[in-house]
Amino acid sequence: MCDMSHSTDGSVDRSQMSGAEIEALSERYQVNPMGHDPLVIAKASGVRITDADGREYLDAISGEWVVNLGFRHPDIVEAAVEQIQQAEWTAPMYNSVPRALLAQKVAEVAPPGLNKILFGLSGSDAVEGAMHLAMRTTGKDEFVSLFQAYHGRTFATLAMSYTHPSMYEGAKKGIERYLTRQIRVPNFNCYRCPFNLTYPSCDLFCAHFVDTMIREGSEGSVAGVIAEPFQANGGMVPAPDGYFNVLRDVCDKNECAMIIDEVQTAWGRCGPMFAMEHYGVVPDMIVVGKAFGGGFPLSGVIVSDKFANLAPWEYGFTQIGHPVSTAASYRMIEVIQRDHLTSHASAMGERFGELLGALYERHQIIGDVRTLGLMIGIELVRDRTTKEHAFEETDWVMHRCVERGLILGKTGPVFPPPRGNVLKLKPAITVQPDEVDEMCRILDEVLTEAEAKFGL
Ligand SMILES: Cc1ncc(COP(=O)(O)O)c(C=O)c1O
Repeated sequence: MCDMSHSTDGSVDRSQMSGAEIEALSERYQVNPMGHDPLVIAKASGVRITDADGREYLDAISGEWVVNLGFRHPDIVEAAVEQIQQAEWTAPMYNSVPRALLAQKVAEVAPPGLNKILFGLSGSDAVEGAMHLAMRTTGKDEFVSLFQAYHGRTFATLAMSYTHPSMYEGAKKGIERYLTRQIRVPNFNCYRCPFNLTYPSCDLFCAHFVDTMIREGSEGSVAGVIAEPFQANGGMVPAPDGYFNVLRDVCDKNECAMIIDEVQTAWGRCGPMFAMEHYGVVPDMIVVGKAFGGGFPLSGVIVSDKFANLAPWEYGFTQIGHPVSTAASYRMIEVIQRDHLTSHASAMGERFGELLGALYERHQIIGDVRTLGLMIGIELVRDRTTKEHAFEETDWVMHRCVERGLILGKTGPVFPPPRGNVLKLKPAITVQPDEVDEMCRILDEVLTEAEAKFGL
């Protein structure tokens, strides 16, 4: 047992524990499936984080794109406390005030026709919920998902995630009997097109190819096609304009559900409330999670009447639609509306776009900058012509940024980590212009250091 700080009554004095003490406890008593960073968040407010040793950081990833309003937003704190004072828990089989009100609110802000919600707990179980809804309505049972997609880590969603062999080694080996057969199609990626084509002269071949795969590569029983509007874990890649118009037609023609996974992209992240508003296409279902609970666990499938079919007790988890999460979520949506945060997120996204455009001009290591509102990916390469992935350099940049007090993320087409070569920035949608400037300034300085260090 490590030596921990105890107060006089023998209880643990949490404020006195150092980062090293907490890390020792974690190593000793936790199974850490995602590896873990030694950083211990002790306190946070807005986009500012303080670690257990009192160091301060600027958070460019909204606590892994979960606190879209920033840490400890006063409205969220108030809504959560108010709900706890009413009833901190209501079982899923009873109606609850915050759950009913949130369902109505979501229907109000969702794209037209998506007016019901199936609540879940995390993104993965919500994606499975969407699969249930699609199967019940269509009577079919196959699913199409894209290369480099990420839809979760339950068995069915893992089967629809990633395609690279290194990911198979890391996550799928040994559990094959539980991984259902999924139909995988090449993803959109205009920087590294799997078909070696160029947008727009490609005429969206990748979207039309989904139809080919349903026709030629399925057993004739496709219940749904699932896609992220901006592939996140697969390398921060936005869908090209027009992609979802084609996909909509393909799903209609094949009488299957168009399921859009907005676990990362909803709630103002990409500018509008939902990224699909940017593309102007209404799917049959939108899956939400992560930021949906305002920092508390919550997910859901927002669905049209046509697809809102489940057999009794077909789906459900004890903690779905938790009252504190739903109360916080309701308030989060109200705040986004009240404070015009969708326009603010778009404006801050444009500011990032301009500053990162200037960084692209100055730093040869940047191969591509991809932004949609505050969903931002910066792909690092060793050579702009060959596009050789700068894996080692990206890892170094990310850790150096943390040393310099800037927390950002990393992802990329080759898993498991640390093989990513795409930096991710997804700050709170409340981020202010001076904070955007500070994030870009630190990144600029670190990229200069990286180019000198790696001789680029
Ligand atoms: C697009 C997308 N879908 C689904 C999931 C799964 O969500 P969760 O980790 O909450 O189960 C994630 C998580 O990263 C995600 O990014």
